[in-house]
Amino acid sequence: MVDTIDTATRYKAPVKETLLTPRFYTTDFDELAKLDISAVATDLEALMQEFRVDYNRHHFERDGVYTLEAKDLMGPVRDIFVHFLERSCTSEFSGFVLYKEIARRLKTVNPLLAEGFHFMSRDEARHAGFLNKTMADFGLALNLPALKKNKKYTFFKPKFIFYATYLSEKIGYFRYITIFRHLEQHPEHRFHPLFTYFENWCQDENRHGDFFDLILRSQPRLLRGLNRLWVKFFLTAVFVTMYLNDHKDRGIYDALGLDPTVYAKEVLVRTNREAGKAFPVILDMDDQFWARMERCLASTLKLGTLNNLPTKLPHYLSIAWNYFQIWAAKPIETSVRTVL
Ligand SMILES: [Fe+2]
Ligand SMILES: [Fe+2]
Repeated sequence: MVDTIDTATRYKAPVKETLLTPRFYTTDFDELAKLDISAVATDLEALMQEFRVDYNRHHFERDGVYTLEAKDLMGPVRDIFVHFLERSCTSEFSGFVLYKEIARRLKTVNPLLAEGFHFMSRDEARHAGFLNKTMADFGLALNLPALKKNKKYTFFKPKFIFYATYLSEKIGYFRYITIFRHLEQHPEHRFHPLFTYFENWCQDENRHGDFFDLILRSQPRLLRGLNRLWVKFFLTAVFVTMYLNDHKDRGIYDALGLDPTVYAKEVLVRTNREAGKAFPVILDMDDQFWARMERCLASTLKLGTLNNLPTKLPHYLSIAWNYFQIWAAKPIETSVRTVL
């Protein structure tokens, strides 16, 4: 159950949808049902055992102090934090909706796969619910059932779901742990107790990423030939989106005493390196890569100050061109084998 907000809380109107806001996905459930993952059965069973143990069963419980700290948070940081909670809650909830639907549709036709998705939806429901309750401490919350009903769903073939969600789970892991470690070093910037939950929380995301890693390993054809171009495409899309978002919404990082460029670079470098265990290619994060990222960012920030198409057009073209160049650059070959 993700929506247990009391009636005194106002529902917050969702933010305007753009290319950079979190999306909701749907997929081809029949194709998913046919997936044979028996090639990784031993590793999968080990991961399922971890899911069953449910290390974070009691992690997302709040004490009295937790709620009180919301009342103390005033000024601009309060709005910045609520915006951060809304974004995070929407992302977590979108994972819940997708995983839950896959688990439901596959329950009788592919029970092993369904069980994995069921455990992941359990975790995402907890994450989204915890964030939404934290929003409710500020008198605002997302109407999650309405969000589920009214959000536009993007259709992705199963293989695209695997590439995209593998990366978003792993990037989620590195985002949470990087913030947690930073606040361990600089506790004076820990302005809300939410961040103390990130250490165990991120382990859920890490396990989710490992689940998709196993699915990909069971289907080596998804990592060969032209699919290598799709892998590069998703690495590019996920990394550019994070870099732009974190700079557009830099307020939360300023409040945490984190430089968004330093933070984004650390998260992206570590995610890219980690992706080298699942993908046959990863991006070469050389000086050119970061220069292209910076050009995408400069144009994105400029677009926010312009309001007619002729002045905006060169910036759209610059973003598209730099995006394309990041995708087209020679990748780094990893040691991932694509034959079983
Ligand atoms: Fe999550
Ligand atoms: Fe997750």
